[in-house]
Amino acid sequence: MRLENKVALITGAGSGIGEATAKTFAREGARVVVADLNDDGGRRVASQIRSAGGEAEFFHADVGAPREIEAMIKFAADRYGRLDILHNNAIFTTVGRVGEITLEGWQKTVDVGLTAYWYATKCAIEVMLPQKRGAIVNTASVSGLAGDYTLGAYNAVKHGVVALTKATGIEYARKGIRCNAVCPGPIGTPPLLRLEDSRPDVLARIREAIPMGRLGEPQEIANVVLFLASDEASFVTGAFFVADGGLWAHSGMPSLSGQGPEW
Ligand SMILES: NC(=O)c1ccc[n+]([C@@H]2O[C@H](COP(=O)([O-])OP(=O)(O)OC[C@H]3O[C@@H](n4cnc5c(N)ncnc54)[C@H](O)[C@@H]3O)[C@@H](O)[C@H]2O)c1
Repeated sequence: MRLENKVALITGAGSGIGEATAKTFAREGARVVVADLNDDGGRRVASQIRSAGGEAEFFHADVGAPREIEAMIKFAADRYGRLDILHNNAIFTTVGRVGEITLEGWQKTVDVGLTAYWYATKCAIEVMLPQKRGAIVNTASVSGLAGDYTLGAYNAVKHGVVALTKATGIEYARKGIRCNAVCPGPIGTPPLLRLEDSRPDVLARIREAIPMGRLGEPQEIANVVLFLASDEASFVTGAFFVADGGLWAHSGMPSLSGQGPEW
């Protein structure tokens, strides 16, 4: 098992990528704290992990509130005596053109998607420094590497997460703490899958834009997070890993010959 005896905390673990990561970590031997503001989702994931023979606790936390971040990290450290892995993953997104986003929407996106990632990192580092080891994995996005129409706040946050990952990686490189990011492309989790009913045309265009011609599966991101969190990535820090079916590799330029991804 790749995470035997490790203690891991995952935010936004009650659904999607966080859920897949929590279950994967547990299968690999980690004791897992499932943190989420959605009690039903978080409790379900923790109980499914336990039913499968793993070890997991649900902890209710809204990562938009710094006091709840402090409590979440303290819970993991008190419950298990250490914290080896932090996966910052929860998100809130406001949608709209840059000139149309509200101040409230912008601030909540930044609070949950960037300030919370920094503050949880800061609190985790306090626990990890005396241990002289730890791995932090941030869920960024291909939206942290390029712009998207009507996702300006999300773009700013995810670019910030990539930058925070680099700074944390280099600053703690000689202290045994690694920090890396995963940059998923479009993944089949509830926020995107809801488009199946409301805007199937948009979902079809998203699939078409991906060279592989399909959405990613949450497990395909959890696999990358597992690698980054494990000792197999012992020389990897400050890095971001793209897992997007080829989306970011495409310049966006239409084919000059008319030949596209289909052949
Ligand atoms: N799905 C995609 O296409 C995609 C692509 C790139 C990046 N991502 C990133 O992956 C991460 C997970 O997204 P997902 O697609 O799995 O979404 P999801 O909606 O399936 O899961 C997100 C979870 O976060 C929880 N959450 C939301 N706000 C929270 C808060 N303030 N405090 C605690 N928990 C909170 C939700 O309750 C939910 O359980 C996000 O960082 C997202 O930006 C997703």
